[in-house]
Amino acid sequence: MYKNRNKRILICLVLVLLLVLSACGGTETASTEKTRQTTAAPIQGGAEEQTEAQPDSQAAVPASAQAPAESTQAAAPAGKDTLVVYFSATGTTKAVAQQIAAITDADLYEIKAAEEYTDADLDWHDSSSRTTIEQNDKNARPEIGSEALSLEGYSTVYVGYPIWWGEEPRILDTFVESYDFDGMTLIPFCTSSSSGIGRSGQNLAENAGSGNWLEGKRFGAGASEDALREWIEALN
Ligand SMILES: Cc1cc2nc3c(=O)[nH]c(=O)nc-3n(C[C@H](O)[C@H](O)[C@H](O)COP(=O)(O)O)c2cc1C
Repeated sequence: MYKNRNKRILICLVLVLLLVLSACGGTETASTEKTRQTTAAPIQGGAEEQTEAQPDSQAAVPASAQAPAESTQAAAPAGKDTLVVYFSATGTTKAVAQQIAAITDADLYEIKAAEEYTDADLDWHDSSSRTTIEQNDKNARPEIGSEALSLEGYSTVYVGYPIWWGEEPRILDTFVESYDFDGMTLIPFCTSSSSGIGRSGQNLAENAGSGNWLEGKRFGAGASEDALREWIEALN
């Protein structure tokens, strides 16, 4: 009987020990869990997480795919919508054309004769010179030697030339008959010693058969920038 009582005491002690041990283990688990939450909270809501989230959200729309698209748009130069076309045998019309192009921020295109005009060709005192013969023949169409032109993107075209025998050089007729000016505004201008623009603008419009041709203007050698600017502004 005495032996049985000792056995019961031993069992009780073992049970108490087990209870104490299990209580200690539970406390430790709860405390570990709390530590994890405390550590996790700043990562989810703090600045650290935003810093990390930004690259992720950008990765959805790759920066590498966006940046080139933007830079392509910025880099692509907008094409000019104004063109200055000119023919000039001795440089006077060329100088005026260059000034008009600078004022209007336009592209320049020179009509060059396939067979360049020599001094003898330009001699108007000679009734058998090339220019005299050409100007006496309304159907003469001297060949153009400069590269073919693309008019795509142009809405306004200035057309410049010297006055020969009161009219446009016939090579201008070759030019206007070679292109379709539909949807474009064309503005003739010329240089001369003293003659006015005469019928040259109308001749070009008729021979072109397309485009909206405005009344042109004649300038003398060394036309001032102010005079050209005033004329251009009055057109608009
Ligand atoms: C064959 C020829 C005919 C010309 N006929 C005239 C004319 O009828 N009236 C006039 O005022 N100037 C006339 N000129 C002078 C030019 O129109 C003038 O010098 C013009 O500004 C020259 O332009 P460019 O240097 O661009 O060729 C003629 C010149 C040449 C070569």
